[in-house]
Amino acid sequence: MCGIVGYTGSEPAAGILLDGLSKLEYRGYDSAGLAVRDGDKPIEIVKAKGRLKVLREMTNEGESMRGDCGIGHTRWATHGEPSTENAHPHHSDDMAVVAVHNGIIENYVDLKEKLAKNGYSFYSETDTEIATKLIDYYYKKYRGSPVEALARAMMRIRGSYALAVLFKDHPGEIYATRQDSPMIIGVSGGASYLASDVPAILKYTRNVYYIDNMEIARLRKGGVDFYTVDEEPVEKQTVQITWDAEAAERGGYQHFMIKEIHEQPKAVLDTINSLVKECEIDLGESGISDEALRGVSQVHIVACGSAYHVGMVAQYVLEDFARVPVRVEIASEFRYRRPILQKDALVVIISQSGETADSLAALREAKAQGVTTLAIVNVVGSTIAREADHVIYTYAGPEIAVATTKAYSTQLIVCYLLALKLAQVRQEIELEAFERLLGELRSLPGKIERVLEDEERIQWFASKFSNAKDAFFIGRGIDYAVGMEGSLKLKEVSYVHSEAYAAGELKHGTISLIENRTLVVAILTQQSLYEKMISNMAECKSRGAYLMGLTNYGNYNVEDAADFTVYIPRTDPHFSASLAVIPLQLMGYYVSLSKGLDVDKPRNLAKSVTVE
Ligand code: AGP
Repeated sequence: MCGIVGYTGSEPAAGILLDGLSKLEYRGYDSAGLAVRDGDKPIEIVKAKGRLKVLREMTNEGESMRGDCGIGHTRWATHGEPSTENAHPHHSDDMAVVAVHNGIIENYVDLKEKLAKNGYSFYSETDTEIATKLIDYYYKKYRGSPVEALARAMMRIRGSYALAVLFKDHPGEIYATRQDSPMIIGVSGGASYLASDVPAILKYTRNVYYIDNMEIARLRKGGVDFYTVDEEPVEKQTVQITWDAEAAERGGYQHFMIKEIHEQPKAVLDTINSLVKECEIDLGESGISDEALRGVSQVHIVACGSAYHVGMVAQYVLEDFARVPVRVEIASEFRYRRPILQKDALVVIISQSGETADSLAALREAKAQGVTTLAIVNVVGSTIAREADHVIYTYAGPEIAVATTKAYSTQLIVCYLLALKLAQVRQEIELEAFERLLGELRSLPGKIERVLEDEERIQWFASKFSNAKDAFFIGRGIDYAVGMEGSLKLKEVSYVHSEAYAAGELKHGTISLIENRTLVVAILTQQSLYEKMISNMAECKSRGAYLMGLTNYGNYNVEDAADFTVYIPRTDPHFSASLAVIPLQLMGYYVSLSKGLDVDKPRNLAKSVTVE
């Protein structure tokens, strides 16, 4: 997520803006910039790719930028790679309107066409430049107030945004508006502040205004006015922030991992919205054509860790929908086994960071063999994203906790959509089924929300097993694949040894390990395999295991076999991993919490394994 700050008062603005941005660095970013104004002199913009340090050096800690009113930004790239041109603030050609933005504008292509028809040109690849010029277009066309120009622009923009805007004609003032992206506003001692998040202004005030969706704010020196999108004034009360600075960085959550678990509905929704337009799956931005997809003879999915577990789920979905052979491999194995790849194969590299050494090496091996490569990546402009022939981005936003959660969930979404797209271009799916599945996929964010409502029960259960020495996650089909992720979550954040096992494989050796009170987590979301799973649970129970059953609402007879049951909403069986993984993420988190471990930074682990 990007970070936004704003200040207007009697002090030099640049230093205050830099300080505010430094408090938002934890959100992850790849470039930064400031726009500052001295009285009614022209607005000055300084921006650069890289860390805030670069901006500090360019502006001599802000001292070279004169003025007591300004806005600042740290950019987490979504549209357009990290670069100075794409960094914010963005501006109209005559510098009449200058803006910073946090969010994703879904209809930016349509808006760009509209503006181009009205004589606008563009210097960047960003959706933000388009939003800025749309505001400028309405401001010039109707010669009204900044509030009116913003209101008109809001009527046309679809997506999420938090915008802070300077108007040349209105020195000393900052205008702001939001839709779904966070923004707070504070007033203290003759100055007004705005920011994406609490940490940036806690130093100045704990009494803040939360600007609501579709509201507009006008920040003056020491005062703020609010308006509806109909330009009606709105009276608002301040809210007192009680968090300390550290808690504020986590949005009030105790750890980034639990914060990111709860961000999954929005991350999944944003990822769906980035690829599904009306009733079509649009992979156009990846550059991979329907023709190319139609000719794919074999799919190789190559990744590490949780990304590999996504591939294990995707294998079932891709083969079942698109009827194309899929092989899933661990990148560190793939890169050394001299893989035999068909010329018309497709190698899919899944990676949150886009920097994992083994996955990058696998990508280069595939390219060396002349095979088409597609990367599914969360970090725009990362090495894997840049070197792959095609890239589809997930919209999880920056993932801070070492243990991945929201990136895993968004990678699943991209794989589901890739499977449906492949099935469609290969005419392996009827239109009715395609539309039904797309509709079901759109229901996943709401269903994930519902699963999260069970958090307290899972926390209680997890605390009972904080001393567990062994745990087994058993399932069949997609449930086996999601059990792999559940097992890794438990291992990596709570240091409890666990294994994911194909339930049908237990009797071939592993069941000898089951003894009294051994924790067995049975995952039964695949209705066609449900009865077989009940039998496997009974096998474990008869040997003294403690059974947790994870299944769909309605399968209440699971309680005959399970000691503890977690239910998830029904969905199409191909998509059930998106719901079943949530209780398993919560379980790993709460076992770690009950053991007092460093949840966000587990021992021996790094967020991105950029070495072999
Ligand atoms: C998952 O929780 C771990 N952090 C780890 O397994 C991770 O998934 C793996 O290192 C791959 O990272 P990547 O997605 O950035 O390539």
